Amino acid sequence: MSGPPNAQGGGTDRTWTVLELLQWTTDHFAAKGLESPRLDAELLLAHALGLRRLDLYLRYEDLVGAAERARYRELIGQRAGERMPVSLLLGEKEFWSLRFRVTPDVLTPRPESETLVEAALARLPDAEREYTILDLGTGSGALALALAHEKPRARVTATDLSGAALEVARGNAEALDLAQGVRFIEGSLFEPVAGEQFDLIVSNPPYLAQSRASALPPELAHEPAEALFGGEDGLAILRPLFAQAREHLAPGGWLIVEVDPDQAKAGMDWAVASGLGEAAAIKDLSGQSRAVVARRGMERA
Ligand SMILES: C[S@@+](CC[C@H](N)C(=O)[O-])C[C@H]1O[C@@H](n2cnc3c(N)ncnc32)[C@H](O)[C@@H]1O
Repeated sequence: MSGPPNAQGGGTDRTWTVLELLQWTTDHFAAKGLESPRLDAELLLAHALGLRRLDLYLRYEDLVGAAERARYRELIGQRAGERMPVSLLLGEKEFWSLRFRVTPDVLTPRPESETLVEAALARLPDAEREYTILDLGTGSGALALALAHEKPRARVTATDLSGAALEVARGNAEALDLAQGVRFIEGSLFEPVAGEQFDLIVSNPPYLAQSRASALPPELAHEPAEALFGGEDGLAILRPLFAQAREHLAPGGWLIVEVDPDQAKAGMDWAVASGLGEAAAIKDLSGQSRAVVARRGMERA
């Protein structure tokens, strides 16, 4: 090849096919240590061309015009140089087969968090019942809206400390035509729902330890710190969340909280100490303990 598509001044007067661009970028991303170089290259090129990723496979031999190459070159620089996550470059991420807009104000929903949606649905078996659901720390709205989508009769409350995140979540609710069944409230922990009880409380709170921040992938620097870190030891939000959940659960209600695998034991202990029963760890598809589940007994006090 006569020059990389992202070299300063290089390769400007030659033609590039879709396949050539993909191959060059895959090698470039691999050399920069990105985890999924081919997938990232495909997603970014499809975005620059205004296509769906799978459409690229039918267009391998198509030539890519100069304007689209310039746009693609910019994306390559942001991905490999600044380590911007692909989701932020595309401005969207699929979660539970729903499309969520993502911005620097929200955590990009992670596939492993779908474990919580599955676990929640398994505990809300009655199709007719108007379950009450709280998603504490909703971010983009991923958990709240996936549940609202699956349980159209449910009354869902989504809270977040961040007003900017709630704006994104509200926009996602509207775009997904789910706004009617979901209430959004700003505030910390259970403060926005004082005096209320729910059939299900689900939460993916910030649980990374600030003390380990320097060992984390550089991509995380583009996500909001308040969405990632739970204080120095990672437990600053988890601890009060488990301690306060019982008074916000209806009799027989369920608590499901995402944790780091090495926090699952502590989470179960806190759940039991707060008076909840049936405490257990839920594994994700890779076999890691990804969430803690616990249940309030049927007693009314
Ligand atoms: C790990 S993100 C999860 C976002 C979303 N639920 C998901 O699973 O993709 C944690 C969210 O909790 C919010 N948050 C942080 N501290 C909080 C607090 N004390 N009370 C309520 N929300 C909080 C953050 O703003 C962020 O949106």
